[in-house]
Amino acid sequence: MGSVTDQVKSSPHLAILYDQIRWEEKALYEAAKKRGFDPVNIDCKSLFVDLNKTEFQYKDFTIIQRCVSYFKNIHSTAALEGLGANVFNPLTTNSVCGNKLYTHMMLRKAGVRTPKAITAFSESSAIAALDQLGYPAIIKPTIGSWGRLIAVLNDKEAAKGVIEHRAHMFPLYQVYYFEEFVDRPPRDIRAIIVGERVVAAIYRYSAIGEWKTNMALGARAENCPVTKELEDVCLEASRAVNGKIVGVDLMESKKDGLVVHEVNNTTEFKNTVKVTEVDIPGQIIEFVHEAGNH
Ligand SMILES: Nc1ncnc2c1ncn2[C@@H]1O[C@H](COP(=O)(O)OP(=O)(O)O)[C@@H](O)[C@H]1O
Ligand SMILES: [Mg+2]
Repeated sequence: MGSVTDQVKSSPHLAILYDQIRWEEKALYEAAKKRGFDPVNIDCKSLFVDLNKTEFQYKDFTIIQRCVSYFKNIHSTAALEGLGANVFNPLTTNSVCGNKLYTHMMLRKAGVRTPKAITAFSESSAIAALDQLGYPAIIKPTIGSWGRLIAVLNDKEAAKGVIEHRAHMFPLYQVYYFEEFVDRPPRDIRAIIVGERVVAAIYRYSAIGEWKTNMALGARAENCPVTKELEDVCLEASRAVNGKIVGVDLMESKKDGLVVHEVNNTTEFKNTVKVTEVDIPGQIIEFVHEAGNH
């Protein structure tokens, strides 16, 4: 092991690319500093990239991609990765994970259990699809987070109402993606995967009067033991999307056992750190340093 100064010299440059500064971005910066790195903070809003350049300022950089905006995230990843930077997560991961339908298909292909889902591309075929899937069902935008615009459709009347609203929205919302309502306890599991390890997991209990378990909707976090079964499913899910640093969301289906409903490529982990006391930012920095050197 070299000294901290040697480490800075010998390691590729490290950068954190963001569009919002949350607890996670600050914690990553602090963890990098603590380990002797001097990370560059790149605000995506002030970044411009000449896509024809051969000499590129971030070419030998290892970049932790933290942009919340799906569109900024995948396009900035494509530009930076395309010019030779080592971006975590890579474009393959970000473009799949940002979209629930793409993720569903990749998980399915890899044999990972997911909630039953069905897609349709017009109002009338959406209703026909729901007749086949059955009620209650869940409608989700293919791109979105924090539980936004996700609704339970208890019957055909409710479905018609929501689907009619969708007809007046941006075209993305006319791609209908429905899931069976999974019969589960009032909680889900968020597991954080760094490289090939499940480093921590929490249960998220939905707030009173709320069925979604997003922290953004007031859920309560509790430590969740990482069993062998949970570990296996999470690693399979992460591999299915070429994940490097991901948050896997799972439900405990009463009928099917653990099912994965989402893989987050710019995962939040503030509450997981608080509840489990695992140094997730530190582990991420060590992982990207290691992986960026190969
Ligand atoms: N098929 C489902 N059955 C029951 N609850 C679900 C289902 N899908 C999602 N949920 C609940 O809704 C929350 C948000 O769904 P998710 O797919 O993770 O979208 P988001 O990206 O907005 O977090 C989940 O954390 C879970 O509590
Ligand atoms: Mg989620």
